[in-house]
Amino acid sequence: MSKVTIVGAGNVGATCANVLAHEDICNEVVLIDIQGNMAKGKALDTWQQAPIDGYSTRVTGGDNYELTANSDIVIITAGIPRKPGMSRDDLISTNAKIVVSVTQNILKYTKNPIIIVVSNPLDVMTYAVWKASGLSDKRVIGMAGVLDTARYRAFLAEELNCSPKDIQAMLMGGHGDTMVPLPRYTTVSGIPVTELMKKEKLDTIIERTKFGGGELVNLMGTSAWYAPGAAAAQMAVSILKDEKRILPCCVRLNGQYKLKDIFVGAPVKLGRKGIQEIVKLRLKKDEMESLHKSAESVREVVEALNNMNVI
Ligand code: LAC
Repeated sequence: MSKVTIVGAGNVGATCANVLAHEDICNEVVLIDIQGNMAKGKALDTWQQAPIDGYSTRVTGGDNYELTANSDIVIITAGIPRKPGMSRDDLISTNAKIVVSVTQNILKYTKNPIIIVVSNPLDVMTYAVWKASGLSDKRVIGMAGVLDTARYRAFLAEELNCSPKDIQAMLMGGHGDTMVPLPRYTTVSGIPVTELMKKEKLDTIIERTKFGGGELVNLMGTSAWYAPGAAAAQMAVSILKDEKRILPCCVRLNGQYKLKDIFVGAPVKLGRKGIQEIVKLRLKKDEMESLHKSAESVREVVEALNNMNVI
């Protein structure tokens, strides 16, 4: 049995705790926040849902990192969310300070956790956590691709009037407007999506996916939480159950796809030890170019962060 800590009891963190508790595979989920009572309250609320929905996961919360001791996985959602008009990159200095201090606090009580980063700007925050933690790059993983492909799959299901369950898709690159959806690797129950939909329609859906996070910020005045929370939980489940699912995640590429020392989205196999493998796709020239362009825009923000001396 295992223990998962979620740092940040905002909407994303609380949703993630709730979804994970429903999976009933951890004996303990701990929700941590600087607003200790909020974390305690949301944890208690989720625990009180257990008799109704029938799970045994003990959910607790507070502001004391001692509660997090010996976690198998730590999911970092702490940070400020976007407001309308802001890009994810506008959050960089504030959120970098937050995730670095969270990482330091976590490592006081857990020696070698697997860390899933959810805070934005995602790729750069995953780098910041990895750098501050000194952990292996197999154990620090960012959540973006699961969410971005979920949006893409939901839009495709809507257009095709079919179940989103039957849509598989892969997507690479950074969690931003330069993300690289891969129609060649998109299928509906094994049928290439290109056989079911005109190129123009598919292109519109790809564009909508790239700005999927922004669409929700505009609607709600803050960023999304149900799908982001569930996406992080799905990655944790693959790790805890050693499922070895192949999911698009933000990882450190070090030679793969001709990219070196940069965190961006790529297909990976997730198991008990974290990243078991970075799956190599044979990208076509234009796909490779889009991936490199996306990596370049992440690198610019990483450099801006490095110049701030936060880590
Ligand atoms: C989004 C935020 C969580 O894409 O990045 O909704």
